[in-house]
Amino acid sequence: MTKKKKNCTKEMTVFIRKVDEQHQKFFKLVRNLDNNKEGMTSKEYARLLSILTDYLIEHFETEESYLRKIDYPYLNEHIADHRHFIYTISNYNLMYNRFSVPDVEEVYQFLKKWLAEHELDADMVYRNYLIKQIKND
Ligand SMILES: [Fe+2]
Ligand SMILES: [Fe+2]
Repeated sequence: MTKKKKNCTKEMTVFIRKVDEQHQKFFKLVRNLDNNKEGMTSKEYARLLSILTDYLIEHFETEESYLRKIDYPYLNEHIADHRHFIYTISNYNLMYNRFSVPDVEEVYQFLKKWLAEHELDADMVYRNYLIKQIKND
């Protein structure tokens, strides 16, 4: 792993080990898709969409249950964001299984956008809220 990646990892910890591990897994999935999207077989693509859907359901449950515990004031907005994402990914998954194969580049761009706007932004808002709570204790 490069130094830049290490710093990025350290900066974006949310101080909840399970959530940090899940975030790392997500980054890895997106990175793998970026590296392999050109030559991916349809079986690998189907598997990735299915893994992503299952992974996200689990991750959002973990995160939301934690945010409830800390009485996070923006919980509803955060949950709405999660729901929107899971809806889109589930649709890609459904499309693959029932209708036509979703464009791999479109899926990748969607995941990349989500990563930047949610995991590296919205999730950092609750992280900063948590830091403030700890400091005030
Ligand atoms: Fe997250
Ligand atoms: Fe989140």
